[in-house]
Amino acid sequence: MSAPNKSYDPVEVEALKPEEIERMRDEALAAFASAGDLDALAHAKTAHAGGTSPLALANREIGALPPQAKAEAGKRVGQARGAVNKAYAERLAQLEAERDERVLVEEAVDVTLPYDRVPAGARHPLTTLMDRVADIFVAMGYEVAEGPEVEAEWFNFDALNFTPDHPARQMQDTFFVQGPKGVEADESGVVLRTHTSPVQARSLLDREPPVYIVCPGRVYRTDELDATHTPVFHQVELLAVDKGLTMADLRGTIDHMVKELFGDETTTRLRPHFFPFTEPSAEMDMQCYVCRGESVGNPDRPCRTCSSEGWIELGGCGMVNPKVLTACGVDPEVYSGFAFGFGIERMLMFRHNVEDMRDMVEGDVRFTRPFGMEI
Ligand code: PHE
Repeated sequence: MSAPNKSYDPVEVEALKPEEIERMRDEALAAFASAGDLDALAHAKTAHAGGTSPLALANREIGALPPQAKAEAGKRVGQARGAVNKAYAERLAQLEAERDERVLVEEAVDVTLPYDRVPAGARHPLTTLMDRVADIFVAMGYEVAEGPEVEAEWFNFDALNFTPDHPARQMQDTFFVQGPKGVEADESGVVLRTHTSPVQARSLLDREPPVYIVCPGRVYRTDELDATHTPVFHQVELLAVDKGLTMADLRGTIDHMVKELFGDETTTRLRPHFFPFTEPSAEMDMQCYVCRGESVGNPDRPCRTCSSEGWIELGGCGMVNPKVLTACGVDPEVYSGFAFGFGIERMLMFRHNVEDMRDMVEGDVRFTRPFGMEI
């Protein structure tokens, strides 16, 4: 047996006395038992089982004991720490189980409840088609232009070379806007624009040539609402004014648009026509993209889209009348231009087999939804 250790200081190891160790253990167990949630338990763990907890500090004191006392003290501290760790693990398991049970109740989703009955809105197919057409030209360097729907008669007619007695000016086609008191509507000089062509004149007055603009917009005519007419409808107008533009440029531009919208094989044709603001003027047709002309003279294969005519009428076009260029301050000796315009409702009808124009204005989502939910 070795001699008593002279350097042994009983004050230093006060912490290793059995009562002390028991007290530390009991305090730890009490702290764990009273921890009401996982956060509180984590705090209690740091305080009673962490690296600076009384038991951990006591453990460090063991080294200072005389060899014969070390085993006893080590066993005591070890047992106490074992009990503390076990109590911690048990309380942790208990609190976690409680939390899981609570989450199951609090975060439960009743999948039998009715789903959100207010569906997200979306744009009208007329708007998306207009944007799509405009995008084709924006990609070619055209600029989107706009004009007012309540328009000066001068822009809607005079600047576009409509003679004062042109039938289109008459009350049966044009909505005239009431003037100030005492001024009759047909004398106010203000109309709801009957086409997007006044934007041609506005754009030429606004800009220096070259001018390349595309103008989608709403227009008005005094038609009754029926399956094929609506008093409010939409057009897309195109205008190009530059040096050396010819009818071939017009034709190529129409071809390009039609191919983009209806496929590369789609061809077009022009038929002579008259508009006061273009000269020469034409009506533009595209080959029927459904039957590709095969329904013509072929009663076994009728085509609803083109009524077996093989061609679908798009709208009007032509070379800008020099009188319009002059009225807008552009020298027709230097510049020439082409323009076309067509109705979007009609295009939506033949492009998507819509049979009744009224469906487009009634706002029933059962009509618009199948076109997709483009925002
Ligand atoms: N504005 C004409 C219409 O509404 C269409 C058109 C536009 C014709 C441009 C020629 C050039 O019918």
